[in-house]
Amino acid sequence: MKSVRMGIIGLGNMGSAHAKHILDGEIRRCELAAVCDVDGARTARYAGKAEIFADSRELIRSGKVDAVLIATPHYQHTTVGADALKNGLHVLVEKPISVHKADCERLIAAHKGGKQVFAAMFNQRTDPHFKQLKKLLDNGELGGLVRVNWIITTWFRSEAYYASGGWRATWAGEGGGVLLNQCPHQLDLLCWLFGAPKRVTGFCSMGKYHDIEVEDEVTACLEYPNGATGVFITSTGELPGTNRLEVVGQRGRVVIEDDAVRFIRNEVPSDVYCRTTAEKFQKPETWKIDIPAQGHGGQHVEVKQNFIDAILDGKPLIAPAREGINSVELGNAMLMSSLLGKPVDMPLDGAAFERRLKKLIRESRFVKNAGKESGPADMAGSFR
Ligand SMILES: NC(=O)c1ccc[n+]([C@@H]2O[C@H](COP(=O)([O-])OP(=O)(O)OC[C@H]3O[C@@H](n4cnc5c(N)ncnc54)[C@H](O)[C@@H]3O)[C@@H](O)[C@H]2O)c1
Repeated sequence: MKSVRMGIIGLGNMGSAHAKHILDGEIRRCELAAVCDVDGARTARYAGKAEIFADSRELIRSGKVDAVLIATPHYQHTTVGADALKNGLHVLVEKPISVHKADCERLIAAHKGGKQVFAAMFNQRTDPHFKQLKKLLDNGELGGLVRVNWIITTWFRSEAYYASGGWRATWAGEGGGVLLNQCPHQLDLLCWLFGAPKRVTGFCSMGKYHDIEVEDEVTACLEYPNGATGVFITSTGELPGTNRLEVVGQRGRVVIEDDAVRFIRNEVPSDVYCRTTAEKFQKPETWKIDIPAQGHGGQHVEVKQNFIDAILDGKPLIAPAREGINSVELGNAMLMSSLLGKPVDMPLDGAAFERRLKKLIRESRFVKNAGKESGPADMAGSFR
């Protein structure tokens, strides 16, 4: 195979952006062979450019594609993704890989392994700010983890946003709110950088700023196996919003904020200094280090190129889809804890969460005020 024949399933905001990257030639050795959407108006734009399908099952069995990129609402990531995997296609699935942990397990179980490539669109893993932090952590430069704080409240969304797309911000259509739509990126980075916490306590507000039934503000406390603690705060109702990741290790503190990675290094690690110094109030010397990180990486284009290179050359994936279960589980745990009003131990009981979500769906009396569909929106302001 010299070039990968790609099919895109779901041509809304994100799917149409992916299609444009391919049609504009931004992805090497990849052609847009087919597109699929249940909405005929969305596929009509691709007449003459790609084979058109209204049903993903037909596209998957058409023999016209080697791989699919799934950019439907999240619940369909599981059903469409499992169908594509079982039929031998390579799959790149949008975030979150599924709505809840049990669905993630179903989706991952459909992956045959071997040469079949199964990747997830965690484009923020390509951002050099986070790549530099991962290097510092993996090299032991920060020492043992002490504390993680992430305030990510730059995900403001308007009522018009929530009114667009009948599936959005409902338990039945989306399965959650900010934890499932905007924050999968940060939840993925938290898991990628620090691993899973052992216990999660979440405080979620449902429809605090918007006419929606799901969470639009979350504060969660995380407890890590080594005793480190974390606080994660997010909102889609706050302006101007903050995006500040502060990581404290025994060897110093890293802050990622305002497009910079700032490292303040303790000359002596905090635990060693605490045990050995005779001083009562003095602190050890610190060094200020600006870690170089230019731009925000290749984002969606880089993940798609990596997917193609993994298929054609066996290149390691930036984000193997099986890792996508971690961020879903963490978000589910925050919501579960809030619903139960008590901390939740990890690993999360996926079956119990699924039952709880089904109960929310069953008992929902929410009537969605769905706005007029205006077609795919310009997403330039949405990615960070
Ligand atoms: N990686 C990112 O930065 C990023 C950004 C935005 C959205 N997303 C993800 O992309 C996915 C889609 O989000 P969106 O904002 O584009 O939504 P959207 O509502 O704009 O688009 C979804 C499209 O899927 C179509 N669809 C629904 N069910 C389908 C099915 N069974 N088969 C084929 N088509 C179907 C709809 O008709 C619609 O056109 C979500 O999972 C979201 O989390 C990722």
